Amino acid sequence: MASWRLSVLAVAVVWDWVLASSSPSTVAPPRDLQITDPGLLGSLDVEWKPPLHIQTFKKCTVKYNFEYRNTGDRDWKVIFTRKLKLRIGFDLSRTAEVRLQTLLKGQCTGDVEVQSDWIYGTFQIPPQGKLDSEVQNFNCIYHDWEYLKCTWQPGLLTPHGVHYGLYYWYEGLEQVVQCDHYIQDHGINLGCVLHNLSQAEYQDLNICVNGSAAASLLRPLYTTLHLHNLAKPSAPEQLVVSASAAEELRAAWSPPGGRAPPHCLEYEVQVAEDAGQAAAAWAFVSTQMETTVTISRANQSHISCVRVRGRANIFCADQGFWSEWTQDCFSVSRKEDKELFILIPVILCLSITLIIFMLIGQCKKRSPSGKPLQASVGY
Ligand SMILES: *[C@@H]1O[C@H](CO)[C@@H](O)[C@H](O)[C@H]1NC(C)=O
Ligand SMILES: *[C@@H]1O[C@H](CO)[C@@H](O)[C@H](O)[C@H]1NC(C)=O
Ligand SMILES: *[C@@H]1O[C@H](CO)[C@@H](O)[C@H](O)[C@H]1NC(C)=O
Repeated sequence: MASWRLSVLAVAVVWDWVLASSSPSTVAPPRDLQITDPGLLGSLDVEWKPPLHIQTFKKCTVKYNFEYRNTGDRDWKVIFTRKLKLRIGFDLSRTAEVRLQTLLKGQCTGDVEVQSDWIYGTFQIPPQGKLDSEVQNFNCIYHDWEYLKCTWQPGLLTPHGVHYGLYYWYEGLEQVVQCDHYIQDHGINLGCVLHNLSQAEYQDLNICVNGSAAASLLRPLYTTLHLHNLAKPSAPEQLVVSASAAEELRAAWSPPGGRAPPHCLEYEVQVAEDAGQAAAAWAFVSTQMETTVTISRANQSHISCVRVRGRANIFCADQGFWSEWTQDCFSVSRKEDKELFILIPVILCLSITLIIFMLIGQCKKRSPSGKPLQASVGY
């Protein structure tokens, strides 16, 4: 038994040695790396050819380790692929850098991965306009998953009679499209509202804001947006706060209407209890995906207010904007108050009755004894 196992082991070792001795320990890098701009405001086409004589390595798979970044980025983004062409999103206002190597692995290499040297490529659109002529404070919010509103301010260096334009593209559009609903201030385009972007969700939305003034071109701004990370829902609806038990409040609400997917929302709940006349201080209760919450009413206050706001949760976005608050208050009349409410009318009734009796008594006394009294005064 033992000798049989040993012989199997020996065969395996010999086989490995045969493989290793015939396997290439090096492989050539890919050839003819090319980067071209299809004019889609940030998506570049990168192409290359396989290394020469790669067909000789039968029973091995050839893959490419493709890495890319914009000049100034710290890290490379990595794609392993068997393709010879990729379309990759870059920030066109900076230089695009790519590097590429061949990876060979399989029987022909004894299942060891063999890596080639890197080849490098860069791409840069010809710079246009002066640096300080680029628009500033470019911001976008995807309202209620319904429309995207972007705004910007003129660059530091703004010639007279400037005209700005916003252009966009995403996978699925045949060509670059210009904004058709600008927000203007004194006749200058300083924002844009885009509808019907549901197809652009969960992919790159390339944007360019460029401009011109009488004779000169301005520095364009390029950016790539991810709509799901710019979403701002409407405020939650139908918030109702009630008392579920003696010391407990229950708050329940509905997700906002509109296109915001309810499963994509989380809520922040805060409570404030009136401490006399002091301004309400909001205290954090929870961040949660459910639309009900039970809050203990520790302070036995008359009025408890609850407010709720929503935003995209981690299952749908890396980040997002909080909605406005929705608020509702619940007022509790204290036990003593209830007793007071019953006591006051009773006391009032009793007092009035008493006064009436006293008055009647006075009148009765007055009418017969009035004259003698006056007469006695007359003396
Ligand atoms: C959105 O697209 C639909 C059809 O695709 C169209 O009827 C509608 O007018 C568009 N809305 C806006 C605001 O452009
Ligand atoms: C702005 O960019 C668009 C899209 O690339 C282009 O068609 C247009 O000519 C540019 N305008 C200016 C003023 O540079
Ligand atoms: C209850 O009152 C204390 C002190 O007055 C305050 O610190 C606390 O935040 C209150 N709790 C709530 C839920 O308002």
